Amino acid sequence: MCGIIGYVGKESAAPILLEGLRKLEYRGYDSSGIAVMNGSNTIHTRKKKGRLQNLRDLVGENPPEGECGISHTRWATHGEPTDENAHPHLDQSGKLAIVHNGVIENYQPLRKALEAEGHVFHSQTDSEVLAHLVGKKYEASAESDATPQMRLVAAVRDALKLISGTYGIVTMHADIPGFLVGARLGSPLVVGLGKGENFLASDVSAIVSHTSDAIYLSDRDLVYMTDSDFKIEHVEGGSVEFEVSRVDFTPEQAEKGEYPHYMLKEIFEQPTTIANVFRGRLSDDEASAKLGGLNLTPQELRDVDRIVLVGCGTASHAAMAGEYIIEHLSRIPTEVEIASEFRYRNLPMDKNTLIFVISQSGETIDTLAAMREGQRKGHRVLSIVNSVGSTIARESDGGSYLYSGPEIGVAATKSFTSQVMMMSLLGLLLGRMRNLSMREGQRMLAEIRDLPAKVEMILQQTEKIRAIALKYIDAQGMLFLGRQFNFPTAMEGALKMKEISYIFASGHASAELKHGVIALITEDLPSVFIIPKDSVYDKNVSSLEEVKARKGPVIAITTEGNTDMEDIANDVIYIPEVDECLSPILSVIPLQLLSYHFAVARECDVDKPRNLAKSVTVE
Ligand code: AGP
Repeated sequence: MCGIIGYVGKESAAPILLEGLRKLEYRGYDSSGIAVMNGSNTIHTRKKKGRLQNLRDLVGENPPEGECGISHTRWATHGEPTDENAHPHLDQSGKLAIVHNGVIENYQPLRKALEAEGHVFHSQTDSEVLAHLVGKKYEASAESDATPQMRLVAAVRDALKLISGTYGIVTMHADIPGFLVGARLGSPLVVGLGKGENFLASDVSAIVSHTSDAIYLSDRDLVYMTDSDFKIEHVEGGSVEFEVSRVDFTPEQAEKGEYPHYMLKEIFEQPTTIANVFRGRLSDDEASAKLGGLNLTPQELRDVDRIVLVGCGTASHAAMAGEYIIEHLSRIPTEVEIASEFRYRNLPMDKNTLIFVISQSGETIDTLAAMREGQRKGHRVLSIVNSVGSTIARESDGGSYLYSGPEIGVAATKSFTSQVMMMSLLGLLLGRMRNLSMREGQRMLAEIRDLPAKVEMILQQTEKIRAIALKYIDAQGMLFLGRQFNFPTAMEGALKMKEISYIFASGHASAELKHGVIALITEDLPSVFIIPKDSVYDKNVSSLEEVKARKGPVIAITTEGNTDMEDIANDVIYIPEVDECLSPILSVIPLQLLSYHFAVARECDVDKPRNLAKSVTVE
């Protein structure tokens, strides 16, 4: 999951490429580079290990001139982060440059064959092999009467036929100033159409400050462009259909504004983003939800007798919450499958099984593959996605957008609450088509409408939660415990803590303590209990007491007014009263803030945690 951007226009390319990389850095940040060409038939490359600022410092000393270029911010797959392994990579001639997002699975035999022909490599990456392949194909057509542009397009086509794996690439050749070629399979690539300039990027956040007109390429699309023209074809030749979309967010929305981190901004956006999910999707007349994008008739929805929810990471935790919520509201058997497992396990499903894939980015390769596996089996696969125009959104058989705006922080926050909100709407819709009464539906609508204000009330406790985080700042581990609707919340809280503060954290169903987990309890291991006043409160108290009996410190997330916890827990964070099936949307907020403040106090890079990237587009 790297970030790539290409520019061709009349402006100096280097500043545009560097600014574009800044917007894409959340996709990978262990090294970066740019290559710029000008009319002088040469390509100038600058590459640097480490964060983007290192590249900026390098370029600042001696900015390469030219109005056409490509750039890349890396999440290492093959070869550790070094200057040499950073992209762009050059071919044997040094006149072709390429940036690549993806994995070339057969790069080693290809590299050996090229080395046998005298090619010399300077990195350990799979991507450099692609540069040499394209360059070799381009050189081989030197005598043809095709134009240099068409020779380069043909060279890309021929080289891509030889590789297996995934790619999102942009390439250029010093013989052809002002000309870029791009292609994608399994990694996203979007065309930005400007006035007298054109762009290629991994996602629109890199180009939204220049243009709102975008074309989201599909797998096996190939595009070539100048500053005033472009053409999109199939990678094996032939025309393809495409449409120009308007980017659905502003440049300001892709910035962190007055917040110190994107993650904090996105935590505080949740009153709005939760409302964005249900805005226009609640029906008072029917005491139900309206989800038009499902592309299913009422009868088809009525016939659904099993639901499979598929996702990765936070999206899988939202799916876990969805399982409890949808079953509670609709009584339809619902189950969760981790996407990377679903795609290989050949789950028995009959024709009335409905599959939903859940993904913030809409590009997670395991979730994309799981969707395609479900479709291969003849199932309709619907998607719950945040990124408009993303691959999963476009290839699914229907679904609903979250409309949360760009989520830049690597740690998912607003996307989780929006995904759970969407699952609640789905449960309400399906429930009202079955056993849920009008009165119950109306009560759920009122509860849903109250959620943004309740989230706002929790956010006001950020300083109190920060004080609690500081109290446990030396903890080397943390347990997160919850039951029923909040067992998934415990899983999500643990993921937040571990991925941004790097301490060991695990989430469990509270009663699992007795089955082994309690062996971990010491005075130095805090346990966070999600323990609202709900139907399993008393059982949860028993679990909490077991921890206290072994001197384990406890942080309790409980319902306002439930002062019992003051006598039992070491620290208490209150959340407003809410129907228990919606409680994950509230109870996760303190956990997001707890992990944020804890990580900041430990001076971790909250928005770009080590080893991670926002969108996992490699397997
Ligand atoms: C969660 O904080 C992580 N960013 C990660 O687990 C993420 O949820 C997962 O990679 C799925 O991403 P997606 O929702 O974009 O598919």
